[in-house]
Amino acid sequence: MDFIRVHGGTTLQGKVKVQGSKNAALPILAATLLVQGPVLLKNCPKISDVDGMILLLQTLGCSARWERDALCVCTDHYDKARLPDETVGAMRSSVFLLGAILARKGEAILGWPGGCVIGKRPIDLHIKVLTKMGVRFRETDEGICAIAENGLHGISVELDFPSVGVTENLVMAATAADGLTRIKGAAKEPEVTALCEFLKKCGAFISGIGTDILEIRGGSKLHGGEFRIPSDRIVAGTYLFAGLAAGGSILLEEAPTEHMQEVLRVIRQMGGSVTETAGGLYAQFTGHPQNPLFLKTDVYPGFPTDLQSMAVAAGCVGEGDFVVQETIFENRFRIIKALESMGGRICRIDDGSVRIIGRGGLRGAEVEALELRGGAALIVAALGAKGETVISGRRYIERGYENICRDLRELGARIVSG
Ligand code: EPZ
Repeated sequence: MDFIRVHGGTTLQGKVKVQGSKNAALPILAATLLVQGPVLLKNCPKISDVDGMILLLQTLGCSARWERDALCVCTDHYDKARLPDETVGAMRSSVFLLGAILARKGEAILGWPGGCVIGKRPIDLHIKVLTKMGVRFRETDEGICAIAENGLHGISVELDFPSVGVTENLVMAATAADGLTRIKGAAKEPEVTALCEFLKKCGAFISGIGTDILEIRGGSKLHGGEFRIPSDRIVAGTYLFAGLAAGGSILLEEAPTEHMQEVLRVIRQMGGSVTETAGGLYAQFTGHPQNPLFLKTDVYPGFPTDLQSMAVAAGCVGEGDFVVQETIFENRFRIIKALESMGGRICRIDDGSVRIIGRGGLRGAEVEALELRGGAALIVAALGAKGETVISGRRYIERGYENICRDLRELGARIVSG
């Protein structure tokens, strides 16, 4: 069975701890390939994408085992540069291994990276910058063969787009490159910062962390140690939109408020009252979202694309017309059909924008999750709908949420998984 069943109409009350960040954990797991000695990652989320990365690392001869909520990884016995297609193709985060494997091994064979249905997910920018570092790429039927015959050398590069994954791959490769690498137009997402902080703690020389200009001096031997994965700002944001849709009051323990300022601005704009507390976030909601006129996704510190579907879902529960523009991925409105089957009124303006005609009312229905964040957004909609909603495709949601049903049940939601 692979579904989640929600009875809408119950307000949320209580507190929940926010899990560790999927999008910080995945590149940091890849970066353990650059490190000699064991690494203990505290607050690592127990999600299927992390399971997939563990499998990839184990396939490469590394060891990885859970010690309660910490993951202990040791890559000292890494011995292969080929990644099995059946695991690579399943997830986007495998492309983050490219920089790390090239840094460690000088060659990598990677199946065509997968990802979800939110867009083409090309890797042309990854190939462009790694080529500049001395990597030669050959595209074969089974994927990508990358070789750095003469090793990697430092470069000065300005990114065409502040891609999170490209910045992360570049930073990882640069730690092993000969000389200095300077990245202008680097992504500034908190997950990129977490990766840089991890590598710095392991002995890498990185400056400009948290800005769009990063400098990495290659060649230092990196050592293991302990690192705490930061809390997941997208999971915290998901629960705030759930509160907007359902109403009530929730305390999100360990919410990374300093990385959620634009999200909190939108939540407040939609009628939520949010207070930053010492331990996280306290939020109160009426259950009747007031739709803003316009919302646009953007790179950090703008409104994150990963919460766009949740805003659309809450907008369908809310009152007032609401235009949402997606600027990062070209196909991230896949939940519209499901929301319309719940009574949502949404029309396409153009490829990148939709208009929600919020008339405050959704009804339960049988819907299908097609990808991770769209699936979570359907739970948000179901919490604000009248009646029962059954969401198939729970497996997509488990890629990024440790146990969304347990968390929301602890807040009083009537939600079960099967
Ligand atoms: C990361 O994906 C995240 N994934 C995504 O989260 C997140 O939505 C995205 O960053 C933006 O914040 C992980 O960290 C594992 P990008 P990434 O490179 O690195 C285009 C989730 O739900 N592009 O910043 O793949 C790309 O097609 C996931 O947790 C190229 O054109 O994002 C997209 O339109 C979804 N060529 C845009 O850039 C390239 O070579 C942003 O991509 C690379 C990217």
